[in-house]
Amino acid sequence: MLLTWNWKKLFAVQALFALAWAQAPEESYDVIVIGGGPSGLSAASALSRVLRKVALFDSGDYRNNPTRHMHDVIGSDHVVPAEFREAARKQISFYNMTTFFDQEVLTMQKTENSFRATTANGTFTARKVILASGLKDDLPNVPGLRDAFGKGVFWCPWCDGFEHRDQPMGVLGDLSDAYDSVRELHPTLNKDIRIYANGTNNTAQINRINGKNKDWQKVFNAYNVTVNPKPILNITRTQSGSDFQDSATRKELDKFRVYFSDGTYEERGAFITNYGTSQTSKLPEQLKVGFLGTKMNTTAPGLRTTVPGVWGVGDANSDNSTNVPHAMFSGKKAAVFCHVELASEELAQVSGSPAKRAAMLDDRSVHERTARQMGDEVGDVYKRLAHF
Ligand SMILES: Cc1cc2nc3c(=O)[nH]c(=O)nc-3n(C[C@H](O)[C@H](O)[C@H](O)COP(=O)(O)OP(=O)(O)OC[C@H]3O[C@@H](n4cnc5c(N)ncnc54)[C@H](O)[C@@H]3O)c2cc1C
Ligand SMILES: *[C@@H]1O[C@H](CO)[C@@H](O)[C@H](O)[C@H]1NC(C)=O
Ligand SMILES: *[C@@H]1O[C@H](CO)[C@@H](O)[C@H](O)[C@H]1NC(C)=O
Ligand SMILES: *[C@@H]1O[C@H](CO)[C@@H](O)[C@H](O)[C@H]1NC(C)=O
Ligand SMILES: *[C@@H]1O[C@H](CO)[C@@H](O)[C@H](O)[C@H]1NC(C)=O
Ligand SMILES: *[C@@H]1O[C@H](CO)[C@@H](O)[C@H](O)[C@H]1NC(C)=O
Ligand SMILES: *[C@@H]1O[C@H](CO)[C@@H](O)[C@H](O)[C@H]1NC(C)=O
Ligand SMILES: *[C@@H]1O[C@H](CO)[C@@H](O)[C@H](O)[C@H]1NC(C)=O
Ligand SMILES: *[C@@H]1O[C@H](CO)[C@@H](O)[C@H](O)[C@H]1NC(C)=O
Repeated sequence: MLLTWNWKKLFAVQALFALAWAQAPEESYDVIVIGGGPSGLSAASALSRVLRKVALFDSGDYRNNPTRHMHDVIGSDHVVPAEFREAARKQISFYNMTTFFDQEVLTMQKTENSFRATTANGTFTARKVILASGLKDDLPNVPGLRDAFGKGVFWCPWCDGFEHRDQPMGVLGDLSDAYDSVRELHPTLNKDIRIYANGTNNTAQINRINGKNKDWQKVFNAYNVTVNPKPILNITRTQSGSDFQDSATRKELDKFRVYFSDGTYEERGAFITNYGTSQTSKLPEQLKVGFLGTKMNTTAPGLRTTVPGVWGVGDANSDNSTNVPHAMFSGKKAAVFCHVELASEELAQVSGSPAKRAAMLDDRSVHERTARQMGDEVGDVYKRLAHF
């Protein structure tokens, strides 16, 4: 063989090698999971346990990063989110099926039969994608607010309401949303509730709140809920519940001043906020996933997006449920559908034309892998096929 080689061929081979070296290594997986929050981790867990090879990417932008503790997650109540994620990674790692990349995925592309993700230092391909990329909180650029968020200033009663029960409570954001906050807080968590409308007393808001309940003012009066309409200057922390807390009752004793543009201020123990959210990642858009409002449209069965082979889970999907239990449930659900879809494709291959089937049966590695994933069911398929 070597004797028949000439210089021209050698150069061609050399050029091929050069090309291979120049290209970044491309690793192939069954599933790429974007996100290492509770939804992505839950998906990776379910996929690992049915021996799917997973690449999980995590850029470290977790929505609950600012909070002191995570609540209302059965079995993990009042746990620090970072510790929760660490424990989950350890549990998933046991199965040796998921590789964690603490890197941002910069671009995602759908190719004919697969998906391609690129990071700053690599390219990865997979047959399926689960987008667990989360939402971010769009807080207004008011001095002190971002720093206070998650620590005495929170958006959901279930998150930190208990820790601030019976404290003087302020409500921030659109006046019309304040009605819902009042309904969720009064009377169990807070009775001293004051709304800081920030000068937002306009027709549109009044119309919206009237749409919720025409008698909202009567409700506010009955609950002794008052409105301060002054424009807000800033939110200033005067005491931190990180340092002042009663561990026996889990009361976190934060104290804040809300300053107004006229120089006056009022004091509150905590605030509940009503601000918007948006997608953390541009990847759903890049993949041309359909949206409902600001969420990925996952009304298709199994939390599929509108793009075949792509699932949307956690806060970012159109379930519109934004909490850790939902994130875990949705990650698990998508993983089950994703695995079954992969398995169905594998099954279709063995049920194809005789030529295709022969090639398939000759491919020992594929055969073994499929058998391992699906147990005797696939063995039985082969037995039945042998009769044809
Ligand atoms: C202050 C605060 C307190 C909260 N407290 C509670 C609570 O007590 N209990 C509760 O149930 N819920 C709570 N929540 C809600 C909870 O945080 C969310 O429901 C949950 O984090 C949603 O999980 P997720 O997996 O969808 O997204 P996230 O946890 O936000 O994770 C998103 C993941 O995607 C990654 N990502 C995004 N884009 C890319 C990319 N291009 N490449 C790589 N990785 C990417 C991020 O880095 C991150 O790993 C709280 C929220 C806030 C803001
Ligand atoms: C995972 O890999 C490690 C290191 O190779 C090995 O010791 C361990 O037994 C493997 N776990 C499983 C579940 O196969
Ligand atoms: C990719 O680059 C990051 C920093 O840019 C580095 O931390 C990481 O180890 C690299 N990963 C690989 C697989 O080379
Ligand atoms: C108050 O309203 C102003 C003007 O619309 C806005 O810029 C600011 O972000 C709002 N502040 C708060 C705390 O909502
Ligand atoms: C808010 O305004 C008051 C009064 O001007 C000032 O003393 C305080 O430092 C400000 N706080 C923040 C967080 O900017
Ligand atoms: C809104 O403004 C009107 C007129 O200025 C006033 O009568 C009303 O009390 C205000 N409502 C709130 C909730 O601030
Ligand atoms: C109503 O709220 C005010 C402060 O907003 C408070 O001073 C007053 O005691 C409250 N009244 C009742 C009956 O709770
Ligand atoms: C979620 O919200 C969007 C609007 O933002 C809406 O179109 C969609 O129907 C909602 N989904 C559910 C399940 O209510
Ligand atoms: C949402 O997705 C479903 C299923 O994929 C589709 O039937 C529906 O038309 C989509 N809705 C919108 C508003 O695009």
